[in-house]
Amino acid sequence: MAVRVLYHGHSNVEIFSGNHRIQIDPFYDNNPAADVKAATVSPGTILVTHAHFDHTDDVIPIARRAGSVIVSNYEIADYYERKGLRTQPMNHGGGVEFPWGRATYTLAFHTSSFPDGAYGGQPGGWVLEIAGKVIYHAGDTALFGDMGLIGELWNIDLACLPIGDRFTMGPKHAVRAAEMLRAKSVLPIHYNTWPPIAQDGQAFARALEEKGIKGQPLKAGESIEL
Ligand code: NI
Ligand code: MN
Repeated sequence: MAVRVLYHGHSNVEIFSGNHRIQIDPFYDNNPAADVKAATVSPGTILVTHAHFDHTDDVIPIARRAGSVIVSNYEIADYYERKGLRTQPMNHGGGVEFPWGRATYTLAFHTSSFPDGAYGGQPGGWVLEIAGKVIYHAGDTALFGDMGLIGELWNIDLACLPIGDRFTMGPKHAVRAAEMLRAKSVLPIHYNTWPPIAQDGQAFARALEEKGIKGQPLKAGESIEL
């Protein structure tokens, strides 16, 4: 069964597997790079890497309308639970089985607070095992050595890695991350949304090809079949 990964710009990714729709870091209506508005998506599950606005901006309106289950670290799940939304709390290193597959919350080196100042716990990433495929979404993070451990533990088909620099790792470190992760292919994320994180996705893809890794820069609205 094919798994489709649809890029909506910035770190906003939707995954389709059978009848399941899984949303990571919904950022639509205030995202200058997005291809569609939040009102057009109806995921069953919303996975949140961390609390920053560019990863959570549309969580509440989508979850209220679609009845989505919000999955994240304890603090972020608690934040949405208090707003009357359905949640599944977890934390780093833990995995949970869902009807569509297994999600493990991984480490990320970054910060995490909501726009209203609420504490968002420690930020993370996701390893998703869906229909025999493995997708890693790093969230916002610096390069860190334990990405090598993630690469040992899982056989990653697609890694979604930030390349914007300034707030996360940049392209050079992301190439090193892809090597450590032993990823078969890489979707660059968290770049070109605004001028401070402008990067050349095609140049990043060429740097990956030199290491024998497939680079797959997408425009918002484009997707990859795994
Ligand atoms: Ni962030
Ligand atoms: Mn961010």
